[in-house]
Amino acid sequence: MKNFIFASILFALLLTVNAASFQLNRRAITFGPCDVGYSADLLDVKIGTDPPESGKNESFDVSGTLTKNVITKGITILQIWYGDLNGILLDKPYIQIFTDSIKAGTQFNISVSDVPTPELPDSYFIGVLVGDPDASGGVVFACASATVGGSSEKTKIFDIFKLI
Ligand SMILES: *[C@@H]1O[C@H](CO)[C@@H](O)[C@H](O)[C@H]1NC(C)=O
Ligand SMILES: *[C@@H]1O[C@H](CO)[C@@H](O)[C@H](O)[C@H]1NC(C)=O
Repeated sequence: MKNFIFASILFALLLTVNAASFQLNRRAITFGPCDVGYSADLLDVKIGTDPPESGKNESFDVSGTLTKNVITKGITILQIWYGDLNGILLDKPYIQIFTDSIKAGTQFNISVSDVPTPELPDSYFIGVLVGDPDASGGVVFACASATVGGSSEKTKIFDIFKLI
């Protein structure tokens, strides 16, 4: 439950930032930085089926190097979620707990291949983060996001921002 709340709050934050960089090319999804209100490292994200197909499983290869945080085995999570451009999650977030501890400054890779793809609207948002959901209400160590499709959704996005 805690993790779910974590995602919902972040989703709104990430969405406002992503509005600035709408992607018109739906064929190649590019993940870019996200802003969570404090400094978080950027994740490198590659997806298997591009674009994802509704109802299938998607694979994500996520790598990065944390500049100041430590990945702690059994505590730090990888979280992936899909949302629509109104800030509504399309499914509950996918969560994978790290099984190895990794020091700051060391590159890590994590691959997951069974992330269920929800029924996707024309425009949607994918968020990926590495963080600790239990540390002071959830701390994001690193993240990346992508907006697929969409062009005139800015008004709705800013409405969400006001709700935070
Ligand atoms: C992560 O993947 C990169 C690129 O494939 C590879 O060079 C690196 O050795 C991998 N790191 C770990 C910790 O597996
Ligand atoms: C997706 O992965 C899960 C877990 O591995 C599996 O149970 C399910 O059958 C897969 N679904 C599809 C559509 O491949």
